[in-house]
Amino acid sequence: MLQNIKGMPDILPSEIGRWHALEQKIRQKMIFYGFDEIRTPLLEDTDLFVRSVGEVTDIVQKETYTFSDRNGDSLTLRPEGTASVVRALVQHHLHLESATTKLFYMGPMFRHERPQKGRFRQFHQMGAEVFGEANPRLDVETMQILVELCRELDIENPTLEINSVGDRESRKNFNEKLKIFLMKNESKLDVLSRTRIEKNPMRVFDSKDEHTQLVLADAPSILDHLSDGSLKYFEGVQEGLTLLKIPFRVNAKIVRGLDYYTDTVFEVLSSGLGAQNVIGGGGRYDHLVEELGGRSTPAVGFATGLERLLMASRKLEMRSYQKIVFLPLGIEQEKKAIQLLKAVREKLSTVSCTVDIVFGKEKMKTALKTLDRLKTDYAVILGEQEMTAGAAAVKNMNAHLQTAVAFEDLPKHFFEILKL
Ligand code: HAM
Repeated sequence: MLQNIKGMPDILPSEIGRWHALEQKIRQKMIFYGFDEIRTPLLEDTDLFVRSVGEVTDIVQKETYTFSDRNGDSLTLRPEGTASVVRALVQHHLHLESATTKLFYMGPMFRHERPQKGRFRQFHQMGAEVFGEANPRLDVETMQILVELCRELDIENPTLEINSVGDRESRKNFNEKLKIFLMKNESKLDVLSRTRIEKNPMRVFDSKDEHTQLVLADAPSILDHLSDGSLKYFEGVQEGLTLLKIPFRVNAKIVRGLDYYTDTVFEVLSSGLGAQNVIGGGGRYDHLVEELGGRSTPAVGFATGLERLLMASRKLEMRSYQKIVFLPLGIEQEKKAIQLLKAVREKLSTVSCTVDIVFGKEKMKTALKTLDRLKTDYAVILGEQEMTAGAAAVKNMNAHLQTAVAFEDLPKHFFEILKL
């Protein structure tokens, strides 16, 4: 039997209600915070991700879905959203000189990782990016959005962890010290980490290898190597969080798996997720716009995985719609039913509900079973008797009550019941 690709699950009708509720909540929140939505393509030039996410990162080295298309161009299914949003910002001159530009997005991302609970090969992110200002207040606002979302979705024990990876000057000093330390301990590191010492030593912090992590316990800390500017910036972020009473923990080991970050980085973890305990993460990336061909524009943002939010949320209600189903019991009845259905649909077109019909049923008993399976709230039954009387039998399937409603009164009848 044909199957979906491993790690790329279907989202079935029984689950979609929670997705809709989550997506609606996110859209509402982002618009509330002054963000505009942007939708970028799933495919981009491979070069975009190599230049932004970074050549020596797990994502680019091991996880992208990259292939040549029929013209021989190298394309990559987007593994994340920031690179594409920056590309679009530069290409369409979206940045407003006089103000910050705030963009958000939602959609599928693709990473060839080992699938496990909370980790997929096609997953969905919502992300937010703020362009224009290097101001710790903006870093704090992006964190605040994620923390607030977690609170409103009743995510189990959300904890905000923050760090600074410093500016270029801080990192240059730190990388030199770190390189010396790692070289001294090279024999105890895993193979991949050894290859990273030269090109990107901070990436070694991302290693999942136990022995490497033991070595790293004694590694120098970036926080002892911040330049005056980076230190002041990091203090500004902490001050902002404190002013808003947002609890946080400084964790000097957070470096994040993408190369574009400068200064602030952060993650929100939850105890409700198992091994993949990161709900979302982000940080500042003050050079990426320029590196991708735009003019120097500082930026900060975050992304969170929708599957992880759905898994960890103890609150998200499925949105359900009231359902009316017409049930004509014969050919003549069908002719009348499709006309009445049209009139009811027209009257209820602005109401959030379902108005549907089941054809080809003659026996009331089997027909009602079908309606039960369809989770019908109101059945509109048209049998011979109803045709003679000029009134449909409207059965409230939940209360088991039945009333006769004249054909011409059906639209108004349902509008009155469902309009709120
Ligand atoms: P990221 O940390 O790579 O950051 O991903 C953000 C979130 O996406 C993760 O915290 C997680 O919830 C979700 N996620 C990532 N990989 C998977 C997966 N394989 N399966 C399920 N969920 C996953 C970024 O992508 C950056 N673009 C965030 C950012 C925006 N930084 C600045 N602006």
